[in-house]
Amino acid sequence: MNILIADKLSDNAVSALQKLGAEIRLEPDLGADDLPGAIADSEVLVVRSTKVRAETMESGKSLSLIIRAGAGVNTIDLETASRMGIHVANCPGKNADAVAELAIGMMIALDRNIVANTVDLRSGVWNKKLYSKANGLKGRTIGILGLGSIGTRVAAIAAAMGMEVAAWSRSLTPDRAEQLGLRFCESPHALAELSDVISIHLAAAKETEHLINADFLKRMKSSSYLINTSRGEVIDSKALLAAAKEKHHKIALDVYEDEPAAGDAVFPHTELAEIITGTHHIGASTTQAADAIADEVVNIVRAYVESGKPVNLVNARDKSPAQYKLVVRHYNKVGVLASVLDELRSAKINIEEMENSIFSGGKAAVCTLKLDDRPDDDVISRIGATEHIIQVHIK
Ligand code: 3PG
Repeated sequence: MNILIADKLSDNAVSALQKLGAEIRLEPDLGADDLPGAIADSEVLVVRSTKVRAETMESGKSLSLIIRAGAGVNTIDLETASRMGIHVANCPGKNADAVAELAIGMMIALDRNIVANTVDLRSGVWNKKLYSKANGLKGRTIGILGLGSIGTRVAAIAAAMGMEVAAWSRSLTPDRAEQLGLRFCESPHALAELSDVISIHLAAAKETEHLINADFLKRMKSSSYLINTSRGEVIDSKALLAAAKEKHHKIALDVYEDEPAAGDAVFPHTELAEIITGTHHIGASTTQAADAIADEVVNIVRAYVESGKPVNLVNARDKSPAQYKLVVRHYNKVGVLASVLDELRSAKINIEEMENSIFSGGKAAVCTLKLDDRPDDDVISRIGATEHIIQVHIK
């Protein structure tokens, strides 16, 4: 198996992958435009935020698995991957602590004006009077938008700092919020109105694009802080700039709309840069997170090698529409399943899913086939009468 690693991955992970029998090509500097030419006969491609477009998948004739060495998969053309039968897997939650640490660091930096303090010191200015004003965070309310693994960690750290924690997410219910000790917000707007600090932890999706818009920003208290370490597209940056100028919110961002890819580039939001505390999409970039991600990449490849199916698949169909389940118990002999498939093909019945498990001793097996239509009684009895089939039934 050939693996192209188009980003940095720890030496330990590379040798663990080699132990799984993989040939590794390590080319950490490849960009999105280089991938179609570099993919060659790689079966597995490992990337961080480098975009994987349709051209890469079309050029990679052996490509069968793309691993996003991180959480967000908005950089991968999932539609094309699914259409071409290419697995896409990610490493959910593995860099959550790193991103949560940055969000909390940004909150403290905003509250105590750490960046402006530093800039003044560097130019020889001492102004204890100016910088002695801060709201303080204990007892303030942090509103968390999105309660996945990162949002949950931010909630825990903020609670440990004595903050009140409020949250909204699509799936959060009042009962679940109560169990977690959080104040339930029924909408992002409700959260905007009551929060002293807003920290965004939403995935990029159609429903979250520009969720933070002029209307949301209007509802924020003017003294409140806004922190985004999730995806730039969640915020309408023009509306943010206008609101920041008008209401002087303190803002910290790690991610931006149309942000440049990794490496050196020109930062496009120069006006925003004047106002915000900003970092260069480094939320996940700690050694701890890189190690956890690398271990997960190895787990994904191991599962793929052992079962043909990677863990953390993001482009598997959620629920099969197949309504019928054919269960065939059979002796573990050559050609038994082929004859079942032949019967189903003649009856024009499509198999949506299929799983064959062998009993201990290797003599017998049971195969479950999910079908798009019900085979009639004749088909079932023909299958039942086939040599080496013990029993067949439809559910
Ligand atoms: C993620 O989606 O995992 C984070 O945004 C990190 O992205 P990165 O791998 O480009 O740092």
